[in-house]
Amino acid sequence: MYEVVEPLIELKDVAKSYGKNQVLNNISLKVAKGEVIVLIGPSGCGKSTLLRCLNGLEEIQGGSVLFRNEDLTAKNTDWKKIRQQVGMVFQSYHLFPHMTVMENILLGPTKVQKRTKEEALQQAEALLQRVGLSDKKNAYPRQLSGGQQQRIAIVRALMMNPVVMLFDEVTAALDPEMVKEVLDVMLSLAKEGMTMMIVTHEMSFARAIADRVIFMDSGHICEIGEPQTFFTSPQTPRAQQFLKQFIHNSYN
Ligand SMILES: Nc1ncnc2c1ncn2[C@@H]1O[C@H](COP(=O)(O)OP(=O)(O)OP(=O)(O)O)[C@@H](O)[C@H]1O
Ligand SMILES: [Mg+2]
Repeated sequence: MYEVVEPLIELKDVAKSYGKNQVLNNISLKVAKGEVIVLIGPSGCGKSTLLRCLNGLEEIQGGSVLFRNEDLTAKNTDWKKIRQQVGMVFQSYHLFPHMTVMENILLGPTKVQKRTKEEALQQAEALLQRVGLSDKKNAYPRQLSGGQQQRIAIVRALMMNPVVMLFDEVTAALDPEMVKEVLDVMLSLAKEGMTMMIVTHEMSFARAIADRVIFMDSGHICEIGEPQTFFTSPQTPRAQQFLKQFIHNSYN
């Protein structure tokens, strides 16, 4: 296992609880620039909470989170700035129904980043082409399939020029035939060197895209490994047991 020397993101002993329920314990992790981390583990183990701690959607009770050496637990953290740099895509895409695809995509760059429409438009056209949806720019979200809407949600996040992208089960709500088109967009981002943290139940995809796989259980990091090693010979009994349920799942 390699060592990350200059981490883009560093979690040190992060602890998170909801009331008395401690959901993250002793989470320490360094993520390098350009690295793709896949988080897996049973339902309720804390994967979504961990991602949410990285863009200020959750307050932590112990430890620290550093992003480009900036301590995000500091009181004066500029979350508006950080959230532009940390793009997040969820299972549900939440596009505005009354706005066209292009209007949805241009909202963040023009309203939040105060960029000119002309300049943002160029980037939007390029990204839409890249995800194969140039012909949908004037459509409304309800006129798109789930997979198409999710690709638009990814474009919307990329429009902010993030430094890292967080993906939380972005294909979990999609019909099986639409899963691949979304995973392919993520694979192409990884190839371009985007730093990503991905929660997924698509194990073959995890294996194909991850530089490192993190297996979590009950709020702990149980095991960290390179995908080849992790998927062929998981070290902990808990990971071995977890992986058994995915034997028939394939992505190619
Ligand atoms: N807003 C909240 N208030 C109280 N408890 C919460 C809240 N969000 C999550 N939890 C609890 O924190 C724990 C971790 O939840 P989390 O959503 O991070 O799990 P997960 O690994 O993403 O699960 P899944 O695979 O089902 O999405 C769970 O026990 C959950 O019930
Ligand atoms: Mg979750």
